Amino acid sequence: MTAAVTITGLSKRFHGRSRTSTPVIDDLNLEVREGEFLVLLGPSGCGKTTTLRMLAGLEAPDAGRIRIGDRTVFDREERVKLPPDKRDIGMVFQTYALWPHLTVRQNIAYPLKVRRRKRELADGWVERVAALVDCGSLLDRFPGQLSGGQQQRVALARGLVARPGLVLMDEPMSNLDAKLRDQVRTELHELHRRLGFTAVFVTHDQAEAFALGDRMAIMRSGRIEQLDTPEGVFGAPQTEYVADFIGMSNRLILQRNGRFWTTHGVDVVGFDGGPHAESTSLAYRLRPDHLAVLPRDCEPAPDLTAMRAEVLDVQYGGGHIDVVLAADGDRLAARLPADMSTSWLRSSVPHAVVQVAFRAEDGRAYTLRPDSEDPADIDYPALEEVAG
Ligand SMILES: Nc1ncnc2c1ncn2[C@@H]1O[C@H](COP(=O)(O)OP(=O)(O)OP(=O)(O)O)[C@@H](O)[C@H]1O
Ligand SMILES: [Mg+2]
Repeated sequence: MTAAVTITGLSKRFHGRSRTSTPVIDDLNLEVREGEFLVLLGPSGCGKTTTLRMLAGLEAPDAGRIRIGDRTVFDREERVKLPPDKRDIGMVFQTYALWPHLTVRQNIAYPLKVRRRKRELADGWVERVAALVDCGSLLDRFPGQLSGGQQQRVALARGLVARPGLVLMDEPMSNLDAKLRDQVRTELHELHRRLGFTAVFVTHDQAEAFALGDRMAIMRSGRIEQLDTPEGVFGAPQTEYVADFIGMSNRLILQRNGRFWTTHGVDVVGFDGGPHAESTSLAYRLRPDHLAVLPRDCEPAPDLTAMRAEVLDVQYGGGHIDVVLAADGDRLAARLPADMSTSWLRSSVPHAVVQVAFRAEDGRAYTLRPDSEDPADIDYPALEEVAG
């Protein structure tokens, strides 16, 4: 049975020496649909693992309620607290935590053993799940005789073998090299489609989140900042924090000048401030692939906003090149196709002066906190989306 998950008002503090410790999870609300693959994405320390551990019953929340399927597994007020083994959950953690003294077969079979599911043990289900993750030939080996990627897949098989309604995965691919990561990611995507479990998957890798998630929740300091489909998050990051997190790494400050907006002393072509035309300054975010780099004396197309910049570094990346530029104090990153149109850049001299240009419609603007307009000391306050 696949299970939906409902988290209501969940809070958690770790009581250290200071009595006024800030909450690690702060009134978190989240609904995961039946059969959905939900990705929790966020920077280190934002509370992803703690959230999974509370779902699993390994950590007790200070407040709130958790329902999995048709059961309440935790309710602070009603004093309900189901132990982990009663929650019908499969878990795959960052460190594979395979039993070193058990063979691969015994490791995978373990969740069936503790649930006393004799029939599945007898009828070859362990072997079938092992085959699903491409470990069929490893069944008699011990974990110490496996590569990291193989151990990771065994851990995945063990998390899925009991066909739990809910599978929790905490950065299960973080120890794999790039190629294996892609392979295991594809396997996992297929397995989810085939087996149809509900999944809560933690990562801080945005590419992984986009590839696997039906929806993604971007976390920040124990709360959810945005919950949407990958397309929704990518196309419309609601806050500057989210924009930065999903790769809109370029930040410009725009200043209002009458009806116009300027940055680095040039007018931003075709930008009217959107709903916050009354603000005096805005933070404006752009992806590296939305920046163009032009020779210094080239006349830019009329819809481009172009400003003077210095090339700091050019790196070849196969199909693209990554160019780091400085426009006054702002560091900007551009990703351009590695073709004839950019060959001049690859052979440019150090500190070459160029123009960096963008189309206003490609970026997104966000309000700036009034008391601080220096990017260096902005700690992403409660920013509101202002334009798109
Ligand atoms: N047992 C604990 N005692 C005290 N503080 C803890 C404990 N576990 C976690 N924390 C703190 O809670 C916060 C959230 O931790 P958590 O492990 O959930 O983060 P995370 O989002 O999983 O980060 P990462 O991406 O680095 O794994 C951190 O500031 C961490 O230091
Ligand atoms: Mg973690």
